[in-house]
Amino acid sequence: MHDGAETEPTGPTGVRILFVGDVVGSAGRRTLLTVLPRLRERLGLDFVVVNGENAAGGHGITSKIAKEMLANGVDVITLGNHTYRQHEVYRFLDDEARILRPANFLTTQPGHGSCVVESADGSVRLGVVSLSGNLFMNAALPAFSEADAALHGLRGRADHILVDMHAEATSEKVGLGWYLDGRVTAVVGTHTHVPTADARVLPGGTAYITDVGMTGARGGVLGVNRQQAIDAMHTRMPVRFESSEEDPWLQGALIEAGPEPLRARSIVGVQEPL
Ligand SMILES: [Fe+2]
Ligand SMILES: [Fe+2]
Repeated sequence: MHDGAETEPTGPTGVRILFVGDVVGSAGRRTLLTVLPRLRERLGLDFVVVNGENAAGGHGITSKIAKEMLANGVDVITLGNHTYRQHEVYRFLDDEARILRPANFLTTQPGHGSCVVESADGSVRLGVVSLSGNLFMNAALPAFSEADAALHGLRGRADHILVDMHAEATSEKVGLGWYLDGRVTAVVGTHTHVPTADARVLPGGTAYITDVGMTGARGGVLGVNRQQAIDAMHTRMPVRFESSEEDPWLQGALIEAGPEPLRARSIVGVQEPL
């Protein structure tokens, strides 16, 4: 505890950001839209950011699905390696400021990698950056230097910044957390669909978690129909995958930040059944 702690203002002066892990298929969408209103009330949320890269049957997202999320309490949608699975969404990625593909894709690829949104009362500005890892991933540009470029673009435009690091390798996510510590409010990992137990605020004040998990059917295999996934692994033959509907949960992380800009107070994993 530091000097003067007793005189610090009490009460809800902080900013509460819910980040929701990869929404998978119709079970994930239904869970998100059903659970979000009660979480918003219970947790006093100021911002909701959702990774939607698997929202369309596991394969990318459509403009219709994205619009439905944005109209129902989602402030920003981030994406990942499945960004371009639905051709129909390309135009929407260019036109809608609040849906992000990784910032380290080529500038010639549809969409953009960062945005700024305001809280309902206009008092807080949240910058969001979508990034993709480079290890075992197909992003064209290096994540770390493109993160620097994205933060440069947000300078002076945001009170808090959240970075979604969509990556396969835990090492790359941990590395990015340390790299950005003290420069952003939160670095949250996505893509593996399995939550990790390492949520904490790093020494410089950045909230960090390696993976928040997914929002979808826990009864499947990373959101895929269980038997289809087992058959593919067992027989080593091609199997058509469908999203599982069994036992859907929302998984994510709650970050409490402020009043100091770009600093987090706490981060905890969120696990909520449909
Ligand atoms: Fe995913
Ligand atoms: Fe992914």
